[in-house]
This record gives sequence, structure tokens and C-alpha cells, in this order.
Amino acid sequence: MRKPIIAANWKMNKTIKESKLFVQNFLFDYAPIGCDIVICPPVTSLSSVGSLLSDSKHSSSIKLGTQNCHWEENGAYTGEVSLTMLKELAVNSVIVGHSERREYFAETNQTVNKKLKSIYSQNLRPILCIGESLEQRESGNTFTVLSTQLNEGLDDISITSGEDIIIAYEPIWAIGTGNVATPKQIQAVHSFIRETLAILYSQSIAGTIRIQYGGSVKPANIESIMQLKDVDGALVGGASLEPDDFLSLIQIGCKAKEQILS
Ligand code: 13P
Repeated sequence: MRKPIIAANWKMNKTIKESKLFVQNFLFDYAPIGCDIVICPPVTSLSSVGSLLSDSKHSSSIKLGTQNCHWEENGAYTGEVSLTMLKELAVNSVIVGHSERREYFAETNQTVNKKLKSIYSQNLRPILCIGESLEQRESGNTFTVLSTQLNEGLDDISITSGEDIIIAYEPIWAIGTGNVATPKQIQAVHSFIRETLAILYSQSIAGTIRIQYGGSVKPANIESIMQLKDVDGALVGGASLEPDDFLSLIQIGCKAKEQILS
């Protein structure tokens, strides 16, 4: 059985002070509900968020993630942060290939691949983001785009267990727009991703890899998304910025999955 996993991607939001306040309030009201949680603050807040999480009684189910990394360990890469540095901050998961990084910072499937290899060499866990643009969807190229992102991103990477990776399907047209994909669209893509992973690895490994949906996920729509067979969680932007929203999203989403599985 795949344990649901809900991740917060705060993007370039929250100062250290705001991040700490969020985590304190979040932890105060958090009640475990059989889901894994990941919080990915901006890099400046990693240390304080990490300390609060690791000191909490929920440290086994709420992990610290980061939103990006460089693939080299050190060197002349002005402004970049390496995984060796991030590991010191008790980072557990690393978002790779987010569409905003692909669009604004020239991330390609090839740099994603280098980052993934580096993440594995540091024994960390990637959250690999893939997704099509509106133009690609409307021209009927969704599956080709996703297949290329998976094949090139995962080139020469061995995955031997479902724990090794999390895939986040984030249609670009649904991110921050309020235009959530329909349950039918989401299930069709998630099932395609699992089939592609089965070809790349094996049916049994693909059956244990968790696939998140991301793009305008909110407390109001998480239930129908989590009820889908091949959805194992969510990668949440806007609705993860307020503790109350994020807590109710977790509560509703995890309960919906639990009911479907029971
Ligand atoms: P929103 O939830 O704000 O649409 O962002 C989704 C996302 O990009 C998460 O990585």
C-alpha cells in the first residue's frame, strides 16, 4: 500500500520569522492521520524550520524538503547551494524540475537528470516534478511531453524501491491559476505515469511509487483528487501558506484516501 504524502512548496514566500510562526501554529494543531508530510520552505528558512520539526513529536512523519539544489558538491557556481550543504540542515527531500525552474531558470531534463544523480549520491529523496503546458495539452502532446520528461530525467538512474522517488504531476496551466485539472484528466495522466515507470523499472516498483498531483489544490478540491486510484498525495503551493488551510487540506485529503482504501 502506498502511504499518502502531502508536500508544501512555499516557493519564494515567508521570511524566517514568518516560517517559524507557521510551523509553531501548524504543529500546535497537527494530529497525525496516516500521511507523510513534507514542508519545503525557502532556503533561508531551512535551518529554523528544520529545528522546529526535528524537535517536535511528529518528526517521523513531517520532513523537511528543499525546492532546488545544484548537482556539484562545491565550486564556482555563484548563488547556488549544494546538496552537501543542504544535508547539513537535515533536509530529507528535494524538489527537482519544478515548472517554474524549467521556465525561469533554464532547468532542462538534462539538468534534472544531473540533480537526480547527485541527490541519490547523497542518499536524499527527490520529488520529481513533470507537467505539460496548456499549449502542449491543447495540441494533444501531453503524454509525449511527460514521457520525455520521465525518460530523459530518469536516464541511467536505477530505482529499486518505491521509497526512492516521488513523482509530482503538475500541469503548468493549473499552477496558481485556480484551474484545477478534472479528476478524469488527473487519473488518466497518473495512470500513464505509472505505466511509464513500469516500463522504465518494473510493474512492482511502479506500483509502489507515490505520485502526487499539484496545481491549485485546496481544501475544497482535495477530496475528489485523493479519491483517485493513482493519486497518492499532493504538492501544494498557495494553500500551504496558511497553517489552517494546509491542516484542513491534509485532514480532508488523508481521510478521503483512507476511506477509499478501506
Ligand atoms: P499552487 O498550489 O499554488 O497552484 O502551486 C502548485 C505548485 O506549483 C506546487 O509545487
